[in-house]
Amino acid sequence: MQAAAIVLAAGAGTRMKSKKPKVVHEILGKPLVRWVVDAAREAGVERVTSVVGHAREQVIPLVEADTDVVVQQEQNGTAGAVAVCAEALADFDGSLVVLSGDCPLITAGTIAELVRVREEAGTAAVVLTMEPDDPFGYGRIVRDAQGAVARIVEQKDAAPEEAAIRECNSGFYCFDARALFEALRQVGNDNAQGEFYLTDVLEICRRAGRAVLALPCGDAAECLGVNSRIQLAEAAKHLQRRINCAHMAAGVTMTDPDQVWIGPDVKLAQDVELLPQTFLMGATQVGEDSVIGPNSRLTDTVVGRGCIVDETVAVEARIDDGATCGPRAYLRPAAHLCEGAKAGTHVEIKKSTVGKGSKVPHLSYIGDTTIGEDVNIGAGSITCNYDGKKKHATTIGDGAFIGSDTMMVAPVAIGAGAIVGAGSCITKDVAPDALALTRPEQREVPGWAAKKRARQAGE
Ligand code: UD1
Ligand code: CA
Repeated sequence: MQAAAIVLAAGAGTRMKSKKPKVVHEILGKPLVRWVVDAAREAGVERVTSVVGHAREQVIPLVEADTDVVVQQEQNGTAGAVAVCAEALADFDGSLVVLSGDCPLITAGTIAELVRVREEAGTAAVVLTMEPDDPFGYGRIVRDAQGAVARIVEQKDAAPEEAAIRECNSGFYCFDARALFEALRQVGNDNAQGEFYLTDVLEICRRAGRAVLALPCGDAAECLGVNSRIQLAEAAKHLQRRINCAHMAAGVTMTDPDQVWIGPDVKLAQDVELLPQTFLMGATQVGEDSVIGPNSRLTDTVVGRGCIVDETVAVEARIDDGATCGPRAYLRPAAHLCEGAKAGTHVEIKKSTVGKGSKVPHLSYIGDTTIGEDVNIGAGSITCNYDGKKKHATTIGDGAFIGSDTMMVAPVAIGAGAIVGAGSCITKDVAPDALALTRPEQREVPGWAAKKRARQAGE
């Protein structure tokens, strides 16, 4: 598509009552402005210009990789914001889409439709309109006697009969770029807010003899602007539903989709089952027939096929085919459960590989460790990987058996097929197939307990 887009993201968003500028607030782990830029990109818009201003040091890092950034020094209105792009887009002639950085629900399909309608009709502008349940606060679309769009009047400037109009400006437009920048030179700020309104461009184009069209938006929710935290939560709910419906349509089961939150970049295979209170974020992927949840939060984690991930928190972890985790497992960055491996209850694993078929079933901490295949780690065993200054590695060979409540003080290596007796504190390497144990001898005093009780009874 030969179109360009401007994303307005210079405003403060006072009603958010926040230290952060509005467009930096996130939904499903993605900042508002990114939802808008990504929709434009997905629509095929080649060139995107972001207008930043208020607290721009927080906004620029989010958009500079794939958009041109222009600074609006003074936030004097939406027309002012577009006008600062005149220089950056001086060489551009064609369809120019204007998007609000605070409307994360806009879809690529609607952006493409705005461009298509304008190019087919050859008009100076197409404005996306909507009829919200409560039009208060929005600009109203004023039509002439023939029903054509004449102008847009802002809420604060509207006469009572104009305020009664239900058709509203969504804040999304497609312009003929040259007509837009020409008209912007004529926009004044003689209005209730003393601002330069982008909406005035429509009337200016009309006066210059150019036609202006309205494109009614099929789904008013797409135009929902985020001006407050309440609207932020509303927009999140819409996006949650949109994403979950797409996954369900593609063959994912969700017991209760209201209790499942999935980030926009997550990939799920067919027949994945998601139980309530599941949060899948970042670049997480889940393979066929795996069951995630309840109460699981996976971030940037890759899960294979046929896995069970029950009450688990995983960050940058890898869970291969047929592996199981939880309930109550914590997989930290670079934890890797190989095929059929298990990380059970109250188990924390960090930067470690648990080999094929190996099990860490209960109450363990495994860090900086390489565990071979078919190893069993007894309940309560831990790797002591930290000496207060540095981290050290542990290796456990194939088929080794670590008795319960063992401390493996790293750096240490336990050979393949070795057995470590329960309750040991292993500080030296163990040879393959050896038995290692550090266990004080058991002492027994016959009858001592009974004598003690008798003594206590006599006191
Ligand atoms: C605007 C429209 C209104 C429409 C509504 C839809 C105008 C004058 N009014 O009103 O008709 O119904 O959107 O949501 O355009 N911004 C800048 N620089 C500025 C001012 C704003 O970058 O100087 C950005 C804001 O960050 C925001 C967007 O432009 O992303 C819209 O501005 P906002 O003040 O929210 O406009 P509304 O009052 O909502
Ligand atoms: Ca707004």
